[in-house]
Amino acid sequence: MRRLFSETDLSPSRLVLPLFVRDGENVRNPVRSMPGVSQTSVDEMLRDVARAAEHQLGGVLLFGIPERKDAEGSGAWSEDGAVQRATRAIKREFPGIAVITDVCMCEYMEHGHCGVVIDGEVDNDATLELLARAAASHAAAGADIVAPSDMMDGRVAAIRARLDSDGFQSTAIMSYAAKHASAFYGPFRDAAESAPVFGDRRGYQMDPANAREAMREVQADLDEGADAIMVKPAGPCLDIIWRVREGTEHPVAAYQVSGEYAMIKAAAALGSIDEAAAMMESLTAIRRAGADIIVTYFAVEAALRLRG
Ligand code: PBG
Repeated sequence: MRRLFSETDLSPSRLVLPLFVRDGENVRNPVRSMPGVSQTSVDEMLRDVARAAEHQLGGVLLFGIPERKDAEGSGAWSEDGAVQRATRAIKREFPGIAVITDVCMCEYMEHGHCGVVIDGEVDNDATLELLARAAASHAAAGADIVAPSDMMDGRVAAIRARLDSDGFQSTAIMSYAAKHASAFYGPFRDAAESAPVFGDRRGYQMDPANAREAMREVQADLDEGADAIMVKPAGPCLDIIWRVREGTEHPVAAYQVSGEYAMIKAAAALGSIDEAAAMMESLTAIRRAGADIIVTYFAVEAALRLRG
């Protein structure tokens, strides 16, 4: 009866697995703060994608770690960058899984900010051109969806215009529209080597106190042509996922971020909670709040359980 009356369903096709790719061969560097997560070279990544495909996940989300960072983040649009090569390899070997690429400058900038820094400040408008260039290079490599996570204003319009003029009309944009300046991204910055070397991200990411502002950010991105909307982090923003779900007809994604994952792993390692139960409960809550798509480092483990 419990199964019969369950109000919330979760299926592997709704789950997206984030992957951190870098140059080299046979590279698998475990991320200390995220047990079970590694940075990998493209060849090793393909093994992870094979598992993702075998468990029928909806997609993978690619983050790149360049060997060199510079002041304009040129690694972000390099044709033979890790993300571009990874995208081509996945589309060739696993055409059934959606490839989503993260579009942001923080991994590629020597200062670790998500945009161009001029006189010690992130310059919103100067960043748009670079983001558009990076997105176009992902689309050229075959990305199905580009996901800008930088939180610059106007980037969805800039990316859409560039994709269209370069002939990538059918590449979709999933924008991280409501993204709080969150303490829960800590472990990710280890994984992506993207911590800012000065200051913080509060100049461009939202105050976690704000939900109405999240709705304005969502509306702005939809007006600029976003195809799907992301809310982030997920667990601390269930109310926002719900509001966005109620307020728009577009697909809503939620990102269960690195800190949410690391907390469950750490508490389980201490023997304080049942890891699998906590994982499933957290994902079910995000789905219940209204997320159509959940980005989670637990994607494969969750799919394994869902498929019995
Ligand atoms: C890049 C980006 C971040 C995350 C996704 N894209 C970090 C940040 O904004 O500092 C966080 C994901 C996670 O914590 O799992 N801007």
